[in-house]
Parts: sequence; C-alpha cells; structure tokens
Amino acid sequence: MARTLAKNNAHFRRALAKLPLGVSSNFRYWGDDKTLYVKTSLGPRLWDLDGNEYVDYRLGYGPVILGHRHPEVDAAARSGQDVGTVFAMSTEREVVVAELISEMVAAAELVRFSNSGTEAVMAALRIARGFTGRERYVIFEGSYHGLFDAVMWQANVEELENPDDEPELLAFGQGVPGFNKQLLHHLPYNDAGRLEDLLKRQHDTIAAVLIEPLLGSCCGIPSTPEFIQAVRELCTRYGVLMVVDEVKTGFRVARGGAQQHYGVKADICTVAKAMANGYPIAAVGGREDVMRMCRPGGVTHGGTYTAGGMPLAAAERCLRILRDTDALDRVHAYGRRMQEGMSRILDARGIAHSYAGHPSMNGLFFRSVPPKNYRDWKRSDYTFYDTLAQFLIENGVMCEPDSREPWFVSAAHDDAALATTLSAFEEGVDWTTKTLARDGHGVHAGQEA
Ligand SMILES: Cc1ncc(COP(=O)(O)O)c(C=O)c1O
Repeated sequence: MARTLAKNNAHFRRALAKLPLGVSSNFRYWGDDKTLYVKTSLGPRLWDLDGNEYVDYRLGYGPVILGHRHPEVDAAARSGQDVGTVFAMSTEREVVVAELISEMVAAAELVRFSNSGTEAVMAALRIARGFTGRERYVIFEGSYHGLFDAVMWQANVEELENPDDEPELLAFGQGVPGFNKQLLHHLPYNDAGRLEDLLKRQHDTIAAVLIEPLLGSCCGIPSTPEFIQAVRELCTRYGVLMVVDEVKTGFRVARGGAQQHYGVKADICTVAKAMANGYPIAAVGGREDVMRMCRPGGVTHGGTYTAGGMPLAAAERCLRILRDTDALDRVHAYGRRMQEGMSRILDARGIAHSYAGHPSMNGLFFRSVPPKNYRDWKRSDYTFYDTLAQFLIENGVMCEPDSREPWFVSAAHDDAALATTLSAFEEGVDWTTKTLARDGHGVHAGQEA
C-alpha cells in the first residue's frame, strides 16, 4: 500500500508558520512534502503522524542504543525527578556516573558533564588550550564535531584540479566568522605523513589534534589502526594533546568506545550519544593533570543545565545496562547479521558493495572497496544509495537518506525488524536497479566510478 503523508504535510504547513523550515534542526527538513513528524516510537520502531511504521536505523543520529522508550532507562529518568532538575549545585549522582564512565573509558580519569556533544567538544578544546597555552588545533577532512564556529569547516575537494592540492576551506553555511580559519589546520584523514609534517614545523603553536576514530558523519569511514596509533605517537612526541571525539562511537563500538577497539588512550575524549539512550547529556573526560585545569583561574567550564537530575539518572541506568548485560553484543551481532543479509541479496545480483565503519554504525557503499577518506567519498557515485534509501524510507525502513550518515543499530532490533528490513531491501535493490537503468544510469559500472 502506498504511503500517505497527508497529516505530516498538513503539520509541516502549520509548523512552517512558526519554525524556520518547520523543524528545530536544519537536518530534519527533507522537503516541503517529505518532512516527517514522529507520533510515537517503541523499541526499534517509530510511527509518523500518518501512522506509517518504520524500523528505525537513524536512532536520533545514534543515541538510542537500547531502543526507543526503554522502560528501565525511562523509569530511571523519572526517578531522577525525585532529586529535582537543576540547583546551581551538585548532586551525589554526578560522581556515580563519572565513576562508571572512568571504569568503562580508560582515558576518562576525570570527568565533567555537558548537555550535548557540541558542548563537550567545545569544552575539550578549551581545556586543551588552557593546558598547553596554545590556540591552534587540527581537525580532519570529513569530520563532524558539532555546531560551533571553530569546527564548522569543510574542504572544498570538488574543485581541486590535482588531488594533492590544498583545498579551500568552506564554512558550513553563513554566519561562521572567517577568522576561525586562522587557528585551524584541516588535514586529510588517514594520512599520518601530513600530520607529522605539520607537527614537526608548528607543534609549539598547536594545542590539540581533534580526531573522530570513525568518521561518524562521513559514512563511518574508520581510521586505519596505523593512522590512529600514529596520531597518538605524534601527539606524544610533539607535546600536543590528542582529543578523541567519541560522541558517536562512545559506548557503541565497544563498552570502552573506539579507544578500546583500537587500543589507544586519548589525553582528552568526549562521549555523548549512547550514554543515556537519548536523554541530553554528554561528558568530557581526560588525563587527571589536564582535567584539573578546570578550576578558578584556570579553564572555565560549566553551564546551568549540566548534570541535570533526569539525564544524569538516565545515564546511570543506561551505562549500567551497557556495562553489565549483553546489550552491546546484541547490537553488534544484529549489525553483522544485517550486513550478511544485505550482502546475500546484493551478491545474488552481482552488485558490488562494501561496508565502512562498524556493524553498530555502518556505512553501505555500492563499490567493492569503501572510501578511505572524505575526498574518496566525495568523488564516488552515490546515486544507487540515494535512490535506494528513498525507496526504503517509503517502505518502512528508516535509513539515512544522506549516504554520509551510517545506519545505527540498537539492542531492541530483533528478528522481526531484520526480516522487515531485508525484505524491503531486496525489493528496493531491484526497484533501484530498474529505475536507474530506465533513467540511463549504468548501475554496476556507475557505482564503481
Ligand atoms: C563526533 C561528533 N561530535 C560532536 C557532535 C555534536 O553533538 P551534538 O549534536 O549532541 O551537539 C556529533 C553529532 O553528531 C558528532 O557525531
């Protein structure tokens, strides 16, 4: 049965009168007749205003690691209200959650809470600058570190004549002051040689190398083990702080995040999304000597809502579940089974494909080798993915329409969700192949372009 969006569309028109684009984040606007509003959710599923049901692989861009409306986490959040919301004072539970984070993430010797990933990364950068007394910092092409001016830059690789030329830096939209570029070094990912050249020449001006261990907003492209180890080694050699941004990977890729997965220990790291199953809380953690910079006369850190009663209680429950149960193993096993199922369908049709990232947050590519970095992705043909994703969304599988976002898995994804997903996927692959052939787009040759 064809999906109807009459109620979603009517709501969009009403919302547009009060909210720019009818939404509260630019990324939630999918077009005047395609923007969806959630009515409710449960476990691996959500329903839009028209009652259309979807198996959800976006999970709010990753946080909902245990599934929507998890009864234990929600009950814990409600019990957080027994303490209250915020006090401009601390509560007992802060240390309990900080101890849990330290136990799970080795680098987080000391912890401070924030409300969002963006705030945690801002704090990490400020602490690194305070500790080193330096202002410059390094980020890598294809990274996403949140919506604050210092990191809202992308490399304009499309207009490079020679792939080794230095790309122009473009802001993510208007309103980002150009002077930020003066402090920023923007380097290709998975290229330790370029980082070494820079640090050799300029380490005494650089506070931090900020790295996402998997490019969570660029298809989950992973750091090679050699690259992330080299970043660690070069930061140590040149006295620059290694800041690992685990806002998406933390408590998801492994209990100790991507740092555990790779066997590296940051000087400072950030965690956020999976720590409270969607309640707004994040943390910055790091070496004791670095984190003790947060003091009067040192680095200023805080905020009215940090470590509020409900999110903190939700975080405690969610982290205990991730630490003590097989929830994360189930997330990983489901991700692997989904990849195997998709590969069976694609192999049977001779369609080249590969996966990047981790089974818990994986990028699907219609090429035999996944991209190694942002430049590689930018130059690849993602028409097949984009076309297939539209079909899947229209047929009950809420994957990311933008091929840069990985598919996120929760512990609530079960056999029924997998069956729905693979059946829609099979139909979608055939539909996409036919549609692209009809439109004159060579499917197989095109995908390998
Ligand atoms: C690696 C990384 N850092 C920071 C952020 C920003 O987090 P938030 O959206 O909670 O501000 C994100 C969000 O997707 C992220 O993936």
